[in-house]
Amino acid sequence: MNPRIGTATALLVLLFGCLSARSEEAGNMKNIRKVAFGTTADGKMADLYILSNTHGMEVSVTTYGATVVGIKVPDRNGKRSDITLGYDSLEGYEADKSYFGATIGRYGNRIAHGEFSLHSKKYTLARNNGENHLHGGLKGFNKVLWTAEKSSSSGPASIRLRYLSKDGEEGYPGKLSVQVNFTLTEQNELKINYSATTDKDTVVNLTNHTYFNLGEADTILEHQLMLKASRFTPVDAGLIPTGELGAVKGSPFDFLKGTAIGERINQEDEQLKLGKGYDHNWVIDAGAKQGLTLAATAYEPNSGRAFEVWTTEPGIQFYSGNFLDGTVHGKSGKAYPLRAGFCLETQHFPDSPNHPKFPSTVLKPGAKYHSETIYKFLTK
Ligand code: GLA
Repeated sequence: MNPRIGTATALLVLLFGCLSARSEEAGNMKNIRKVAFGTTADGKMADLYILSNTHGMEVSVTTYGATVVGIKVPDRNGKRSDITLGYDSLEGYEADKSYFGATIGRYGNRIAHGEFSLHSKKYTLARNNGENHLHGGLKGFNKVLWTAEKSSSSGPASIRLRYLSKDGEEGYPGKLSVQVNFTLTEQNELKINYSATTDKDTVVNLTNHTYFNLGEADTILEHQLMLKASRFTPVDAGLIPTGELGAVKGSPFDFLKGTAIGERINQEDEQLKLGKGYDHNWVIDAGAKQGLTLAATAYEPNSGRAFEVWTTEPGIQFYSGNFLDGTVHGKSGKAYPLRAGFCLETQHFPDSPNHPKFPSTVLKPGAKYHSETIYKFLTK
């Protein structure tokens, strides 16, 4: 080839490459906005990332606690509302005790007596829930600042949040490097991808604690819930699994067919009494081995809003907002009464470190923790 033509071609290729890289960046910028969310009590800045798609969906995530602050979705008539519980400001999240929207770690849900052993070495964690450890301790992943970056490629709005949890933090062994990606797709999916690595054997169980209310009513009792699970893990008075896998058949825990959350919630049932409602882990039928699997659906008949939960996790905690009591004032100063929202927390089973028969939550150096959950929104 003529060397001049060769050089000209190379320049053109270079120019084209630069231009397309710039437009990819611009494409990604358009569907993500970054605004200041406030300054923490100890003087650090928190940001809010607002992810949007072309169907009118919007998801906002703050770097404080890697927390989902809002999810706006249209109803069946196209009316857009925020379907999550939470606060208008950072101060709300700093004072929060309900885990609204938060990323939960290092270990989601309870560890009995705040104790577990690995290779015969005993570890002691904070007891922040009666005599038990809950949702990572006194200062879990929901109460720390994460660093964020927009994903650099084109395509759906996506942000990457990172946090480095020190060896010994809240009593857990090993320095844990955690990454959580939030992506909003054109298929109205909120994808949450978790990954982590450690430098010592440790336990990990990450989840998201968004409270949903798809309609206008004060409670979620009319929502139809379906859980693809024939078994659940019954609990004791401290909400710690007894270790058995109980059949849901014939009990108020059977959500294999879509059923209103309120239909059986007040039935005479020992497990419902212990949970003050539903606050249990369901064992997803497909199991974690199947990869991403449909675990749950929720539907609110008045608004027509619905969502599906897909996950790689073996369990899902359905919590019916039993500790809400009207004393917490959230967005627009609104009081959140009993059962104002519900959570579907994909997870490994609570207290797994003390139940060798449950799927293991141990992470070893050299291995990578990975977990994915998709909330896919639709209307009916
Ligand atoms: C989880 C727990 C509940 C409760 C909430 C937060 O769902 O299982 O018992 O602690 O978190 O209030």
